[in-house]
Amino acid sequence: MSNIEKDIEHGGQVGEQYARPKQTGPDFTHGVALYLENVSVWFDAFRALNDLSLYIQEGELRCIIGPNGAGKTTLMDVITGKTRPTEGTAFFGQNYNLAKMSTEQIAESGIGRKFQKPTVFENFTVMENLLLAAPKDKRVKKSLFRKLSADAQLALDESLQQIRLQEFIHKPAGLLSHGQKQWLEIGMLLMQRPKLILLDEPVAGMTDAETERTAELCLELKKNHTLVVVEHDMSFIDTISEKVTVLAQGAILAEGTLAEVQANEEVIEKYLGR
Ligand SMILES: Nc1ncnc2c1ncn2[C@@H]1O[C@H](COP(=O)(O)OP(=O)(O)O)[C@@H](O)[C@H]1O
Ligand SMILES: [Mg+2]
Repeated sequence: MSNIEKDIEHGGQVGEQYARPKQTGPDFTHGVALYLENVSVWFDAFRALNDLSLYIQEGELRCIIGPNGAGKTTLMDVITGKTRPTEGTAFFGQNYNLAKMSTEQIAESGIGRKFQKPTVFENFTVMENLLLAAPKDKRVKKSLFRKLSADAQLALDESLQQIRLQEFIHKPAGLLSHGQKQWLEIGMLLMQRPKLILLDEPVAGMTDAETERTAELCLELKKNHTLVVVEHDMSFIDTISEKVTVLAQGAILAEGTLAEVQANEEVIEKYLGR
């Protein structure tokens, strides 16, 4: 038996040299989950983000709106390490310098992201998709098609309950509706137990009923997570939003309640139209 197998056999107690260094987790002692300061992203001469500063409080649900090309997705790319800021700093809590971490390290530190398009594995069942999304812990991996560890079972149960797909657990994901696939993907994020969740246009292409259900889901997630949600659907934003940030041409145009930003002259001019 190899040392790694022994390690698994003994629940990681033997051969600690193979165990991952213990993650301390993000430090939110100042009440702030995310600090972006003077962030610019240049694509050649084009500035997708232009000297943007944004602070997200722990436990907040922040909505980000703005015209196409405003830089909303680029902002999420910076937070998740997919794109590096050309200038400025990005911190998760006090202690994680996002600009110096790989996308994998950022995910492990507690940031989960849902992209615009669902990326579930269509041939796998709902349950298999969720288990495949579990943290890449060797014990969980080994137990994937055997007996579930207590922790993986708990994460699975909690995740299924939140996305309300219990009755479809053995159904191939390819047979789910578009909305159900989006929820499954949110469930896959939850398997990682993220502290900060980023959702990019979660209700695009959803029916009205699915959109309503997604709003409920966001409000439930808010009880235990910090969320940043990018959306164009104003009635959805109205249902879930506290503070709204309007982005245009890579910079913040306005911040406030939805009613406040909707009454802002510049926002009307550059985004909402007259
Ligand atoms: N990898 C890239 N290379 C060049 N330009 C890009 C890249 N990614 C985004 N952009 C440009 O940056 C701008 C902002 O894009 P994006 O962040 O996707 O906007 P939004 O999500 O608000 O619609 C757009 O003009 C887009 O074409
Ligand atoms: Mg986008």
